[in-house]
Amino acid sequence: MLKSLTTVPMTQIITIDGPAASGKGTLARRLADHLNYFYLDTGKFYRLVGLEAQARGITPEDDRDAVVEIAQNLADEFTLDMMDNPKLKSDTAGQMASRVAPHPPLRQAILDLQRTLANTPPQGLSGAVLDGRDCGTVICPDAQHKFFITASTETRSKRRFAELQSMGENTSYEDVFADMTERDDRDANRAEAPMRPAENAIVVDTSMLTANQAFELVVENL
Ligand code: DC
Repeated sequence: MLKSLTTVPMTQIITIDGPAASGKGTLARRLADHLNYFYLDTGKFYRLVGLEAQARGITPEDDRDAVVEIAQNLADEFTLDMMDNPKLKSDTAGQMASRVAPHPPLRQAILDLQRTLANTPPQGLSGAVLDGRDCGTVICPDAQHKFFITASTETRSKRRFAELQSMGENTSYEDVFADMTERDDRDANRAEAPMRPAENAIVVDTSMLTANQAFELVVENL
């Protein structure tokens, strides 16, 4: 007698990569809600490592072994509630994340965890939306849908500046613009997993789009 083949449904994966303040985070979260998929903010892994390095007084560029060890511990002890730490949202966490992220062994230490979360989302959800820099190129190169969300440096700096002002942070537009340029340069020009659109990604420039328009454009292209 023929055995019936049971097909295991494949997890649907959507990757949303792009630079800071491009609108990719808001868009990815909204998309995950809309589809009832798991939302994975991959930048938070680097933010967690960066903040821990800072707490221990480690300079990432000088003591690379120490930051790799932090990343390995994170991968071993990871729980989802770690992602809810409000300190992860700070600009310091973002800058520290960008400084630890270029180191290949550190990226390697968290890669399996990122892939596992994407392929077997918690609570049995049928899909995952990943947000980051290398989701479509390295973490999930076989994702069903890939997007690269971008905007001009000026637009992104203005958005970030307005956000910081609304949080009561005392900073100038010039400083925000300089930080943004520095971070883009580090993320895009590192040797390992640089920020770039995957070959088959749809590139969306949100400079002239509202958040709703960007969301609709992505949904239309699924
Ligand atoms: O998306 P974010 O601002 O939380 O990312 C913080 C930093 O983490 C970013 O400047 C570079 C790094 N990062 C990365 O190298 N790869 C990812 N997939 C996500 C973030």
